[in-house]
Amino acid sequence: MNNIQYDYIEEYINNTHKAEEPFFAELREYAQNNHIYIVKPQVEKLLAVLMSIVRPQKILEVGTAIGYSSMLMLKYAGEKSCVTTIERDENVLSQARENIKSRGLEDRIHTIFGDATEVLESLSDKYDFVFIDAAKGQYRDHFEKSLKLVKSGGIILTDDVLYFGMTASDELATKKHITITRRLREYLSFLCSDERFETTILPIGDGVAITYVK
Ligand SMILES: C[S@@+](CC[C@H](N)C(=O)[O-])C[C@H]1O[C@@H](n2cnc3c(N)ncnc32)[C@H](O)[C@@H]1O
Repeated sequence: MNNIQYDYIEEYINNTHKAEEPFFAELREYAQNNHIYIVKPQVEKLLAVLMSIVRPQKILEVGTAIGYSSMLMLKYAGEKSCVTTIERDENVLSQARENIKSRGLEDRIHTIFGDATEVLESLSDKYDFVFIDAAKGQYRDHFEKSLKLVKSGGIILTDDVLYFGMTASDELATKKHITITRRLREYLSFLCSDERFETTILPIGDGVAITYVK
């Protein structure tokens, strides 16, 4: 029980969704075995559906890890799409680069090594879709910087916003996690109150916020 969904609901949905091709299934297993956090199965399916509907040509990602979600988004976004993705951990980034190369996507996925807080300030392209999936304490900073880079009518999706339910419940928020919980609450309340965008929060994975930028 992750305090977001009942286990039986999560299991039912995961078993009902179409399974990903072996390349992704193997990469997910590798991530699991090596304690590398990648997008959860229901959020992966949400990304696949959003990519299929929106067909974003330019995608920006904050938090590459081993390249799983970058490659997945490209698979569904279409042949004309490309991804720029930022990662500050050299070790996982080099694995991402290998994985991307093994799929022949090195011309369409541009990986940038560095802290997103700085890297985002150095970008000038305009993006149709932004996936924020890095340090929770920096979500607001990454969002505000991404907002300058996203086209009007674009989407910013933030992962893991409910943080094992702690964001929604004082009872669940242990002392150790109180600061991050407060920051996530402030972040969500900002996303849901600002007139410049429209946000919905979904209780899938560890919680997802989808923001439409007007
Ligand atoms: C949850 S993982 C990303 C998973 C990936 N999006 C996927 O689903 O395949 C988060 C990653 O963000 C990276 N990260 C955290 N804070 C960062 C920052 N400020 N700048 C760049 N990368 C960061 C971590 O090193 C980690 O690899």
